[in-house]
Amino acid sequence: MNEFQTVKSLLVSGIAAMGLLMSACGGGEGPPQPPPPAPPEYADKHMPAGYWNNPEILEEGKAIFTGQQNIDVNCASCHGKDGKPVKAGARDFRRTEQMQLYSDSVWFWRVSEGVSGTKMKAWKSKLSEDAIWKVIAYEATFGLKGKEYDATKGQWVAAGTAGSAPAADAPSGGEPEKAAE
Ligand code: HEC
Repeated sequence: MNEFQTVKSLLVSGIAAMGLLMSACGGGEGPPQPPPPAPPEYADKHMPAGYWNNPEILEEGKAIFTGQQNIDVNCASCHGKDGKPVKAGARDFRRTEQMQLYSDSVWFWRVSEGVSGTKMKAWKSKLSEDAIWKVIAYEATFGLKGKEYDATKGQWVAAGTAGSAPAADAPSGGEPEKAAE
């Protein structure tokens, strides 16, 4: 008899089973990954003033997102009505940690041009620039509700506060290089 060996093999198989369980529990999108920067032709595109968190704009954005406005454009068919993906691989807009890594320009670029090699296609032939901004304003409410992107600071801030930092009466045209983070 060899009690020691029995205990040992029990332990080993127990550990192996735990490992299996843990790897099966992965799922999701993994840790937040910053997107690539917007190409130069999109880098200066920004949300029109007064669009973020504007109820009328959000209403229009929702109609676009859900395909009510144009049946050929139905973002919700992959991204889900509430931002929870219904098609595998579609970006989960509810994940604040991920979505806050995107600037308004990056979102605009991705929606316009799509993401090559994925199901996310280019929408610029179906949507005007204005419509794209509206759908983005709506999409942002899933994970970044009550926020807006401050292009000067390069981050998401509370709604209504973007660009409100005192301009330190800098001479016009002299936008200083951003200081180190
Ligand atoms: C056929 C499915 C499908 C439809 C319809 C769709 N998407 Fe996507 N979308 C995807 C997938 C898949 C990704 C993930 C691409 C990737 O891996 O980066 C994605 C990613 C995105 C992203 C993030 C891009 C990035 O860099 O991660 C945005 C923003 C987006 N979609 C917006 C929209 C909008 C707005 C619409 C409607 C006009 C829309 N999508 C319609 C499948 C879809």
